[in-house]
Amino acid sequence: MTRRNFTAAGATAASYSRILGAADRVRMGFVGLGNRGDQVHTAFLEWGDHQTVAICDLRDDYLDLAARKSRGTPTRYQDYRRLLDDKNVDAVAIATPDHWHALMMIDACNAGKDVYVEKPLSLTVVEGRKMVEAAERSKRVVQVGTQRRSAKVIQEAVAYVRSGELGQVSLARGYEISSEWPAGIGNPPDQAPPSEQEWDRWLGPAPKVPYNPNRAYYLFRYFYNYSGGQMTNIGVHLIDTLRWCLNLESPRKVTALGGRYVIKDNREIPDTMEALWEFDGPTMVGFMQVNGNGSGGNMRDSEMELRGTKGTMFITPDGWEVVPERINELPRGNNNPIDRSVQRRRNARKTVIQPKSAKGSVWADAPHARNFLDCVKSRGKCNADILTGHLSTSATLIANIALRTESLLKWDARAEKFTNHPEANRYLHYEYRTPYKLS
Ligand SMILES: NC(=O)c1ccc[n+]([C@@H]2O[C@H](COP(=O)([O-])OP(=O)(O)OC[C@H]3O[C@@H](n4cnc5c(N)ncnc54)[C@H](O)[C@@H]3O)[C@@H](O)[C@H]2O)c1
Repeated sequence: MTRRNFTAAGATAASYSRILGAADRVRMGFVGLGNRGDQVHTAFLEWGDHQTVAICDLRDDYLDLAARKSRGTPTRYQDYRRLLDDKNVDAVAIATPDHWHALMMIDACNAGKDVYVEKPLSLTVVEGRKMVEAAERSKRVVQVGTQRRSAKVIQEAVAYVRSGELGQVSLARGYEISSEWPAGIGNPPDQAPPSEQEWDRWLGPAPKVPYNPNRAYYLFRYFYNYSGGQMTNIGVHLIDTLRWCLNLESPRKVTALGGRYVIKDNREIPDTMEALWEFDGPTMVGFMQVNGNGSGGNMRDSEMELRGTKGTMFITPDGWEVVPERINELPRGNNNPIDRSVQRRRNARKTVIQPKSAKGSVWADAPHARNFLDCVKSRGKCNADILTGHLSTSATLIANIALRTESLLKWDARAEKFTNHPEANRYLHYEYRTPYKLS
């Protein structure tokens, strides 16, 4: 029985662990053990051929929790570079805020570790490209944390769309809708950090600014120095899935509008935003973010919709559904009440595909971890490989640049530069704080 079959047969992590020899285990170090880091750690703990040998975070309480959950006694670190020096570590999982991903991932590759790195891959397009180069140069296995890539139900949706059943898909859209009005994240004043050293390490390459509790743990995703906001936080999952379904690479145009329209907290990112990309296809892809008034969810409660000439697919967190289009092959009449062509046209409507649906969660944390462990052993390409992560992240990052520059930007995907707006190219990277350097 192969390792994979054995796992599928329902062995518990503990029983699996007893049967495997030490050589079969992937010894992992976890960097960043907050909200997502704990979820990723838990996903790896599902599998007995993983062993947590090292943990790293700035906070003792998070380290305590991770140590309690681990089988065995992992070595504790506060400086990730010391964890990377640890010869017992084969692979690392990075779930720190976005502004740390590039430095940590590249250092990990250079230290010879395979890497599971959270989405969005990077804070800037330039960082993402350097990460792709580092993975290729060092021949490391890299999984990006877009876990929908390992969700069976999404894999089936992709196969369905790629079979051509929906016809030509001219528009696809992702939605991130939530109800944060009126308090949002609040408006606390800047204040002394829990510890100067911790705040300095948390900021890393980002500009030195006074501590504000909203800028740090979890809520950093509302500030541009550390994240691309909901566009890169949620948007990257959805744009990644749509790109995959439609076999799209990089957009050739992007534009966006939005702002802080309704919520009066100290966030920098919009509470309302809509972005549009044009890909070869031709296909328009959109992302709509509404955080001010999400009580009713969105139309059909979908996270994503793909509108084809023969039908529309709606994807929710629990599965997907295809609604056939009622197609009319007769040309439109002039709507005059005595023009019989209107009635003739209505009668001629027909569907050419069957309704179809599938159930299953898009939250595939454990399968995504499994896929990484398998690839570490086989040296194969992960479900969410580094280039895939870079292309999906870049699409969302350039939408933020379009918003910032109030522009319709033309994107040269090969050069990774805008061709019609020199000023916008300045936002493809930023100057790291001394002594941090992107190598
Ligand atoms: N795949 C998903 O569905 C998903 C879900 C949530 C978050 N995420 C991603 O996970 C990442 C972390 O988000 P979060 O919600 O867990 O944030 P968080 O603030 O809860 O956790 C981040 C952790 O990183 C630690 N950290 C920060 N700087 C560090 C440093 N220099 N060295 C060591 N540790 C450091 C912090 O102490 C904190 O515990 C983000 O990139 C986010 O986009 C992914």
